[in-house]
Amino acid sequence: MAIQLGDTAPDFTAETTEGTVHFHEWLGDKWGVLFSHPKDFTPVCTTELGTVAKLKAEFDKRNAKVIAVSVDGLESHKGWIPDINDTQGTTVNFPIIADPDRTVADLYGMIHPNASDTATVRSVFIIGPDKKVKLTITYPASTGRNFGEVLRVIDSLQLTANYSVATPADWRDGEPVIIVPAVSDEDAKAKFPKGFEAKRPYLRITPQPNK
Ligand code: BEZ
Repeated sequence: MAIQLGDTAPDFTAETTEGTVHFHEWLGDKWGVLFSHPKDFTPVCTTELGTVAKLKAEFDKRNAKVIAVSVDGLESHKGWIPDINDTQGTTVNFPIIADPDRTVADLYGMIHPNASDTATVRSVFIIGPDKKVKLTITYPASTGRNFGEVLRVIDSLQLTANYSVATPADWRDGEPVIIVPAVSDEDAKAKFPKGFEAKRPYLRITPQPNK
């Protein structure tokens, strides 16, 4: 069965471009982003891995580690990295899992046989410090991902883990948030001292509480 939100992220041991990784141990108490790409030495994947490398400081700021995976082997990954660095103007600064026997791809359901029998799709898993899966997204091979969106979701997940709020459509860090319906107006007055606007009884907006 496909991995669902709230499931424990499957643990594994794998060879990567930065040595052997025991996944849960490698995550430690940090947030994790595990993302698959279809194939090494392909154009869209090259731009994606370069983009993630350039965003390293943003992931660090959020206490998040990133790790890539495809079913290519270690020598292939190592041969491809200089191309990513050269063409994208960066240095790959996160591990890429070599998964030629598809251990990780199968554990996480990253091969969708009706899309491709042999290659992983563009899966993204965000994993919390409790090792639970907090988000899954799947893109087709033909569409490069928006990793700004991955950062935006981490911001939302980290905020909503600590406050009784949810984030509206297209929310970005620093913008007003929604008080969850389970909180009564009376409790909301105490929990959100900056106040709130009730556009409807179920739609109450408050400034982001931790800003
Ligand atoms: C790419 O990364 O460009 C790509 C990979 C597999 C299929 C199509 C595109």
